[in-house]
Amino acid sequence: MQSKTVSELLNQDILFQEVEVKGWVRTFRANRFIALNDGSTINNIQCVVDFENFDEALLKRITTGAAIQIKGDLVESQGKGQNIEIQVKELEVLGDSDPETYPIQPKKHSFEFLRENAHLRTRTNTFSAVMRLRSSLSFAIHKYFNENGFYYMHAPIITGSDAEGAGEMFQVTNLNVANTPKTEDGKVDYSQDFFGKETNLTVSGQLEAETYAMSLGKVYTFGPTFRAENSNTSRHLAEFWMIEPEVAFMDLAGNMDLAEDFMKSVINYVLEHNKEDLDFLDKRLADEDKKKPQAERSPMSLIEKLNFVTENNFKRVSYTEAIDILRNSKPNKKKKFKYIIDEWGADLQSEHERFLVEKHFKCPVILFDYPANIKAFYMRLNDDGKTVRAMDILFPGIGEIVGGAQREERLDILKEKMAAIDIPEEDLWWYLDLRKFGTAVHSGFGLGFERLVMFATGMSNIRDVIPFPRTPQNAEF
Ligand code: 4AD
Ligand code: MG
Repeated sequence: MQSKTVSELLNQDILFQEVEVKGWVRTFRANRFIALNDGSTINNIQCVVDFENFDEALLKRITTGAAIQIKGDLVESQGKGQNIEIQVKELEVLGDSDPETYPIQPKKHSFEFLRENAHLRTRTNTFSAVMRLRSSLSFAIHKYFNENGFYYMHAPIITGSDAEGAGEMFQVTNLNVANTPKTEDGKVDYSQDFFGKETNLTVSGQLEAETYAMSLGKVYTFGPTFRAENSNTSRHLAEFWMIEPEVAFMDLAGNMDLAEDFMKSVINYVLEHNKEDLDFLDKRLADEDKKKPQAERSPMSLIEKLNFVTENNFKRVSYTEAIDILRNSKPNKKKKFKYIIDEWGADLQSEHERFLVEKHFKCPVILFDYPANIKAFYMRLNDDGKTVRAMDILFPGIGEIVGGAQREERLDILKEKMAAIDIPEEDLWWYLDLRKFGTAVHSGFGLGFERLVMFATGMSNIRDVIPFPRTPQNAEF
């Protein structure tokens, strides 16, 4: 007989048939009711054992965490809490689990504890729901781009360039780091390194994606990116996944339209396809919220928040307008912000971003036209000579979720900007070539995938939305 998944069984209309199912025991109650889960759904299937028909020694092995196989009849449930259940006829333990030492007990565990047991945490409802949503969101992203005429491009992971110019890179080398070869002036001789030059893990696939946009038209990357920024926050990872669309002949306004439509579409996809998981996470969050003081409680439930984003326009605000709002805001005047906004030109911290989104506009915000000197070199300079065609999308509870720009397509200005921050032209000769041969207006953005997963699941720590988080001092598993 072919095994069915729990999800398939729970969605069966035909009862009174013999079925086979495999999964892990969540609980075994009263020597009679097994709650079985196989990861296919948040719901368990109840398997009813008539203990008189089974060996006591066998029943003792039905412990939380054990892998078992069951054959039996799918019937209408006698009890409350489920519609159907399996009357067990055959029971086999595929893999025992020692109840004394199994870390995932049928009780509430802290997320810290589960992070230390990240290899088993997807056996809990919360983490299985989060990771099913993560999978679904990735699919929705590919689906959106596929349906909108984009090509999926794989940018290299190992690269010689620092796209963001922030110097937050992990070096890639096969030199003996304890004894590196030296040049005459005492520096490391990278000509002897594997690639004959200094290389690092990519911080962004954008520069390479631009080369493809300038030939294939509409492309996107979706891959791992790495940043050696030593910021131990709930929103930063050293290894995270980024989605970077890049489109030829598209300006900043088009870029905003694309980003907004794209974000709404992928959120809509999970609202439609991941209802059970979202309902579970919605309830989890509501329960958490009840424990907080009134003032800190969220005005919207998780699902309301997701609907709100898909149903409302993102507010588009220039950096200059934002600075005015912030300068005159209560927390700024009362010196409640850690970083007080005095002057135009200040970089926005996450406290400011969250104020704009959560307190002032109360909706997602697209900030654009930032001061040139706080943004990356590749962004297109505006006619005012001091701002660039940058855009950041800010989300409630998250802050910056997207960063993007119209790119500088004018060779002379790009060269000037590179010279100003000492990027040698030789290093990016191929990037400059795009401006020499058929240059054109083009734009793109980067969406931090884990920040999207945080938003869609209501999880508050980025370490809980990626299978095995990489953060400072932590690369377990
Ligand atoms: O704003 P960022 O640095 O932009 C770029 O890398 C551009 N090259 C994108 C582009 O235009 N193609 O990063 C983009 C997004 C951020 O908005 C944030 O959501 C996420 O990537 N991000 C991080 N996510 C997790 N951990 C980190 N350390 C992150 N750094 C950025
Ligand atoms: Mg950014």
